[in-house]
Amino acid sequence: MKQTEPQGWVFTGNEEEFKLLNPDRSSHLYFPLVNEGGMKSSVSPTQHGMATSGHDTFLTPPLSVEDLHNSRSSRNFWVHIEGQGAWSAAGNSAGQIAGFYQPDKDEVALEAGFLWHRVTRSSTRFAVKAEITNFVPCGNDKVELMKVVLTNKGNDSITVTPTAAVPLYARSADDLRDHRHVTSLLNRIYTTAYGVEVQPALSFDERGHRVNPTSYGVFGAAGDGSAPVGFFPVQEEFIGEGGSLDWPEAVVLNADPAPADRGAFREGYEALGGIRFATVSLLPEDSTVYIVVMAIHNQRMDVPALMAKYGSAAAFDRLFAENQIFWKAKVSTVEFHTGHPEADRWMKWVTLQPVLRRLYGNSFLPYHDYGRGGRGWRDLWQDCLALLIMEPAEVRSLLLNNYAGVRIDGSNATIIGAKPGEFIADRNNIPRVWMDHGAWPFLTTALYLNQSGDLDFLLEQQSYFRDSYRSRCRERDMDWNPEAGNELRTRTGAVYRGTILEHILLQNLVPFFNVGEHNNIRLEGADWNDGLDMAAERGESVTFTAFYASNLLEISGMLRTLRERTGQETVQLAEEITLLLDSTSEHLDYGSVKDKHERLDRFYAAAPNQVSGVRLALTIESVADDLKRKAEWIFGHLRRSEWVQGKDGSGWFNGYYNNDGEAVEGNFPEGVRMTLTGQVFPLMGPAAAPEQVPQIIAAVEKHLLDKRIGYRLNTNFGGIQQNLGRAFGFAFGHKENGAMFSHMTVMYGNALYKRGFVEEGHQVLNSIYCLSSDYSVSRMYPGIPEYINEQGRGMYPYLTGSASWLLLTMVTEVFGVKGILGDLLLAPKLVKEQFDADGTASIRTLFAERTLEVCYRSSGSRMYGEYRIGKVTLNGAELALQHSPEGVLIPRSQLEALAAGELHRLEVELV
Ligand code: G1P
Repeated sequence: MKQTEPQGWVFTGNEEEFKLLNPDRSSHLYFPLVNEGGMKSSVSPTQHGMATSGHDTFLTPPLSVEDLHNSRSSRNFWVHIEGQGAWSAAGNSAGQIAGFYQPDKDEVALEAGFLWHRVTRSSTRFAVKAEITNFVPCGNDKVELMKVVLTNKGNDSITVTPTAAVPLYARSADDLRDHRHVTSLLNRIYTTAYGVEVQPALSFDERGHRVNPTSYGVFGAAGDGSAPVGFFPVQEEFIGEGGSLDWPEAVVLNADPAPADRGAFREGYEALGGIRFATVSLLPEDSTVYIVVMAIHNQRMDVPALMAKYGSAAAFDRLFAENQIFWKAKVSTVEFHTGHPEADRWMKWVTLQPVLRRLYGNSFLPYHDYGRGGRGWRDLWQDCLALLIMEPAEVRSLLLNNYAGVRIDGSNATIIGAKPGEFIADRNNIPRVWMDHGAWPFLTTALYLNQSGDLDFLLEQQSYFRDSYRSRCRERDMDWNPEAGNELRTRTGAVYRGTILEHILLQNLVPFFNVGEHNNIRLEGADWNDGLDMAAERGESVTFTAFYASNLLEISGMLRTLRERTGQETVQLAEEITLLLDSTSEHLDYGSVKDKHERLDRFYAAAPNQVSGVRLALTIESVADDLKRKAEWIFGHLRRSEWVQGKDGSGWFNGYYNNDGEAVEGNFPEGVRMTLTGQVFPLMGPAAAPEQVPQIIAAVEKHLLDKRIGYRLNTNFGGIQQNLGRAFGFAFGHKENGAMFSHMTVMYGNALYKRGFVEEGHQVLNSIYCLSSDYSVSRMYPGIPEYINEQGRGMYPYLTGSASWLLLTMVTEVFGVKGILGDLLLAPKLVKEQFDADGTASIRTLFAERTLEVCYRSSGSRMYGEYRIGKVTLNGAELALQHSPEGVLIPRSQLEALAAGELHRLEVELV
């Protein structure tokens, strides 16, 4: 049956809240519910989804996106209507599913906001309406709450018997496939006055079973707090022989439960939070309210205390209001006002996304059916970009801690512990180096240094990570004793600490020498694109070579500023590093791959997972010169050797070499091969020469832009590219093979703004907004997805690094509010349609620990390039303008003199 095009969500009110009719007419929809205490839930319009506090502690069965429609497990809530039959307030009964395509299907509407989810479902068969609201209260408890309001919508009185039925999985995600049945035998199931609690006896792990302390529960109360009348703690008894969760015998036959007051103990079965509430009669338009509490705790729960806190409608409503205030406050640190209010509201959801990624990692939402909750190295650093905008106070220590993950060979630990700065040795024996990992930390650190002016950070000391791998995982150090810890030591056994600057230098210098046969940096295990993982021997990432070169140049400049600002002439560096700073003593021929390899081998031999501990004082001037020389060599090399000339004034950079040593991009007989990634990093820094920029833009528009799905990550290479990576095994137009991959598209937009191609940059960012918010094809709630697939569907919503990048780009490029070594630069790059009817565009953001409202008012042309800053007032007082080549600078001291905790207004007149 062909469905009519769905109506999209619409924002209600002036904030982030939205409403969507018939959400059940779209597949794969889900919404995150989470708190900072570790409860991670997701909920679909039919109450599917999951609730967990980690990989090993799932309250409900772990699921993947397909299970949203395949599984019969949900937070079901049944209503038995006397003399009429059974109905699921969540939409999960066999009858409702069977009647889905009939004209009398339930009417369903969804409303959602930060961070709550409400579905209203009206039966057209029975005269009953249900409104179900879910949220996870902020705070430290691992609890999800659900409130169900049933209303009699008919003209006659009805008698209803409600039953909540939430399967209690109560164990590790690993047990889904590994001994699902055997692990149910571990279940110890208790019923108390309010519900069902399961504390499995052991946590099952064939490497050693341990006594399990974690407890899981589903409890319920009527709105006034009164206890239920009984329970169905065992799933198979609830559904009955031959029954199922979508037509359970206990509900259909309205069977009596185990009485609540008796308290039962059962063991060895799949458990169910089956809660029977008292039968009530409802007059027309009368309502009755129920609260369901789903909880995870590190030991048996104090259920009366839990229910006193959560188990009544009054408590629910109070906590619901508190929760909204909490999330709104968190997200309102950054707010945009442009000529497009819908897009501004959409940005609120994007602003929330980096927080979600911090809380969920890359796991625990239905599409994110992998990982164990941790974050990767790359994400760790990029998520800090958004934190620098939203919660800058925390970032310094975070960055400092993160540097403890760097190895002496410039690579890094890949398993990140739960505590800040905790890195764990990989004992699974998967030696792999992602060659891009060394490039991100400086990018994030540079943003920090610019936002804060805290150049001393570069001179802070930090240890290095050490495990059994060395020479970028090419060798194994069999003498390594894990018990001796994961810190690099000197020859005498002391823990070695070097400056942050030294860590950064190693990350960027080692790759300079670690080149493939075309003198670009080797691809190793992969780069940003995790899917380019089959070219470890001969592959090269040209695009990240450009990124590293940009870093080298910027570090060089930063060092000179350090000297100017502090008067310091020298820096102390581990003596081994001088081998990599060759031009401080001699000049290597950078055109010689052989010489680079020899030099790298000498360095590896000098610092074999150990350093001498001797530090040398090198002049800042000589180090800065060396870095600049290297950067410029790379720029020249890339422009000369990696440029592909296209037709009609287009041209682009070859981004990669494959494992056969062949250039991946270019004009091939079968057609053009081109990647967006290949262009982004040369554009983001100076590698692309000014005359190359318009040619790249022309090539991207011609070969990668598809009006239906936006800027593709690559053209169709055809075939599975076994000499490049698994990404090409994915169907074309999906994920890392030719989809619109938001992360790279946003970075492309960012790079265009940086290069002054503002209209083009705007078009790129706007394309993502248009694609994502066009519900008829994207079928996603407001926010930016990881990618848009071949059908135009928004995939992997909520957890994506692209949100951090979009937020960063909006603040620092589009609104041009950014730090320059601690001072505030105002350099707006707004285009005409971003001004409202009055010619105003404004942003609220944090800078120098002050909340600023920066309001641009245009009195003349609103075309970018035609306006300039004419006058600036701060809280009404005109400032003397300090022009810089980019815009207007406001000294940090001027902002620091303002009262903290208040909103300060910067009015900027554009003339
Ligand atoms: C994801 C990963 C990111 C990786 C990218 C491409 O992107 O999180 O580390 O670089 O895939 O493979 P994201 O979901 O963050 O947009």
